[in-house]
Amino acid sequence: MADSTPVPVIAIDGPSASGKGTVALRVAAELGFHYLDSGALYRAAALAAMKAGANLENDLEVSRITLTLNINFIRDRIKIGNQDVTEAIREESVSNAASQVAAFPKVRAALLTRQRALRQPPGLVADGRDMGSVVFPDAVLKIFLTASPEERAARRHKQLMEKGMDANMTALLQDIQERDTRDSARSVAPLQKCADAVLLDTTGVPVEGVVTQVLALYKRARQAP
Ligand code: C5P
Repeated sequence: MADSTPVPVIAIDGPSASGKGTVALRVAAELGFHYLDSGALYRAAALAAMKAGANLENDLEVSRITLTLNINFIRDRIKIGNQDVTEAIREESVSNAASQVAAFPKVRAALLTRQRALRQPPGLVADGRDMGSVVFPDAVLKIFLTASPEERAARRHKQLMEKGMDANMTALLQDIQERDTRDSARSVAPLQKCADAVLLDTTGVPVEGVVTQVLALYKRARQAP
C-alpha cells in the first residue's frame, strides 16, 4: 500500500536577519531534507521587476513578471534563467523592494504553488514569514525565530562585510526596523507568530545551540501522537 503520510515540513519564520536561513540550512543538512529559502523568491521577483523597469507599486505588473520567472536553486547559487543573481538579490535596494512587493496579494499568490512544489521526500525545511501560517499550515513543527533588532543589524553587517559589500550599521538598523514594520503591518500574510509555533529568541545564542534546539523539538514533534 502506498504511504499516505505527508512529507514532513519544518517551518521556520521570523523577522529579517533573525538567523532563519543559517539555522534552516543546518537543520536541513542534519536531517537530509530539502531547503526552501522563500525570501530568495521574493527577492528574485523584486530584482526581475526592477530590471524590467516595472512599477513596483503595481501588484498586477509585478505579479505578471513573477509568474513567468524562471528561478532555479542550484546548490548554493540562485539563477534567474541563465543569470546568476545570488549576490545581486542580497543588495539592500533589493531587500527593500522585496519587502515592498511582498505586500501584494497577487505577487504572493504567484509564488505559492512554486513554494509548495518543493515539498518533496524525505522532507523540507522552509524559512520565511508565512511558512507556518499560509504556505505549510500542516507543518509538523513551526518555529518563530527572533532576536533583538540591534543583534540582527550586527549580524547583517557582518554578513555583508564578509562578502566585501559596503554596510553602515545605523542605516542597516533603520532598514531592518522599517522592514519589520512593513512585514508585520501588511494585510496579507503578515509576519506574526502562529499560535502553534514555538518562539525561540536567539539573541546571544550561537547558531549551534539553536540548531540543537530545533532538532530536539522536531524529534519530539515526530513522536507526538
Ligand atoms: O527573508 P528575507 O529577508 O530574504 O526576505 C526578503 C523579504 O521578502 C522580506 O522582507 C519579506 O517582506 C518578504 N518575504 C515574505 N514572505 C516570505 C519570505 C520573505 O513576505 N515567506
